[in-house]
Amino acid sequence: MASIIALSGTKGGTGKSTLSHLVAHGAGSLPKPVPAVVLITDPEDHIVAGNRRYVVMDARNPGVLANRLEELMADEHLLIVIDGAANQRDIDEIIADLATLVVIPFGPSQQDADRALANLATYKKGVVLPNRWPPHKQTVARVKKYLNLFPTDQRLPPFPAIPKLDGWLSPDGYDALAYDVASPSRGLVTELLAKAGIDPRDLHPPTTAAAA
Ligand SMILES: Nc1ncnc2c1ncn2[C@@H]1O[C@H](COP(=O)(O)OP(=O)(O)OP(=O)(O)O)[C@@H](O)[C@H]1O
Ligand SMILES: [Mg+2]
Repeated sequence: MASIIALSGTKGGTGKSTLSHLVAHGAGSLPKPVPAVVLITDPEDHIVAGNRRYVVMDARNPGVLANRLEELMADEHLLIVIDGAANQRDIDEIIADLATLVVIPFGPSQQDADRALANLATYKKGVVLPNRWPPHKQTVARVKKYLNLFPTDQRLPPFPAIPKLDGWLSPDGYDALAYDVASPSRGLVTELLAKAGIDPRDLHPPTTAAAA
């Protein structure tokens, strides 16, 4: 069976879409690439086109999402990343049922942390991901209180703000950024797979020799 990592949480720019694509890009950028597909579930999103190191698929309604998952889950050498739509109960239920790990990003603010806490309580396999975390020592100390709101086993290490990431979901932006973001993306997918208890070696497509 394929492995499923879902990015979920509230509406409003916590980083679900950006991180979904970084995770899949990271999978496709590993020394031994892991095949990955991003399922877009937010009806307000466009399907990003262009040549990427992973596949992007339309799943912008719950029926389509369920069908896609049924199809894709048969492939045991595949990482499925669900870019969750906020405030869509049917989608959240599918995620809660099927995802190996549900990742809830939140920014360094009280409002984001409160929302992440509420979301975390709704998922059995949920973890929070501090996103756009400041890199400097002094600022880190100031926002540490938000990290401390979460149990350590349900919290991933902070992910930094990446400069000039604005075009990341456009075809041209992807080409311009693909090389520079490969390293943090690899770190991110490695972290998430470890948390999900997934060994990336199990996701590598079998080599011809092994298959023979
Ligand atoms: N780690 C990061 N570094 C730099 N910019 C980021 C990072 N994470 C998110 N952003 C930026 O924040 C903005 C919102 O991110 P994104 O669209 O991924 O959020 P979302 O949770 O999918 O929002 P929505 O709920 O509207 O779907 C985007 O402009 C994106 O480029
Ligand atoms: Mg989004």
